Amino acid sequence: METAAPSMMAGSWRIDLGDVRSDLDLTIGEIRQLMDLTALMKRTPTRFANVLKGRYLTLLFEKPSLRTRMTFELAIKQLGGDAIVDTGRIGAREPLKDVARNLERWTQGIVARTFSQTTIDDLAKWASVPVINALSDLYHPCQALADIFTMRERFGDLEGRKLAFVGDGNNVAHSLMLNAARLGMNFSLATPAGYEANERIVSLAREFASVSGARLEFNSDAVAAVNGADAVYTDVWTSMGQEEESAIRRQMFAPYQVNAKLFAHARPGAIFMHCLPAKRDEEVTDDVIELDRSAVFDQAENRLHVQKAMLLMLLS
Ligand code: CP
Ligand code: NVA
Repeated sequence: METAAPSMMAGSWRIDLGDVRSDLDLTIGEIRQLMDLTALMKRTPTRFANVLKGRYLTLLFEKPSLRTRMTFELAIKQLGGDAIVDTGRIGAREPLKDVARNLERWTQGIVARTFSQTTIDDLAKWASVPVINALSDLYHPCQALADIFTMRERFGDLEGRKLAFVGDGNNVAHSLMLNAARLGMNFSLATPAGYEANERIVSLAREFASVSGARLEFNSDAVAAVNGADAVYTDVWTSMGQEEESAIRRQMFAPYQVNAKLFAHARPGAIFMHCLPAKRDEEVTDDVIELDRSAVFDQAENRLHVQKAMLLMLLS
């Protein structure tokens, strides 16, 4: 679906976001509007019951999920609509362009978790209804938006705050980096050599940072990255689809474990963040993830609120 200019229609929450193939499909203005609508919907959930009555969502999963599947199903149901879930490789039985043009005849939106970003892009190219990325190899925009919302709840304005991401330069790191850079939030990423973030995404983030004033740092030193951070974020060392590399990854990432010693380099009062699922005693120790200052279950809850706002903007 082609991305159109945003326009808030009178008497409606709809904003023509087009697709959410990646974080790059949302403008800064749209992110801010999404955050404001999320806050309103979280505060006054009953006001929005039934606004999407008669609207249906397709949820396609090539990989497992707890949070994303639960929160998208709940989101559309709490708004009066419904969802239909399908699992397995998209396009295995018939061309992807045919899948897209079937689904658009029955449902008003497609949410897809895929191995390859190309699958999301192709679905968006062929479907006339909005396509939302529910995690690909390159991005996890719904997660990053919930995380931005969670940090705004904790800190208020994010400009000048520091988010440190320690571990793999993966899909979650990419989405967080792009959002932080656009919102003027300082972002430091520490990865082992060979596991750095995608160069093209880093260069886009640098362009955003040159406009917003965000400071971006990339290095292999976990302590330097965490130093003075307001939020310390990590994710699994082995993402879905990389299971064959898990032994070597456990070795390479061992110095990047977020434990009490590393976390102590953050600012006093800093929060711990993780998209979940977490592997305790790999990327994070139990004592850190269980801290009062751990935001992980707020992040999970906020997936629901952010996605409700996104669906309202896209489908109402
Ligand atoms: N954080 C997240 O996307 O979790 P799931 O893989 O359980 O959906
Ligand atoms: N980087 C992880 C995130 C899971 C929500 C993965 O892709 O498996």
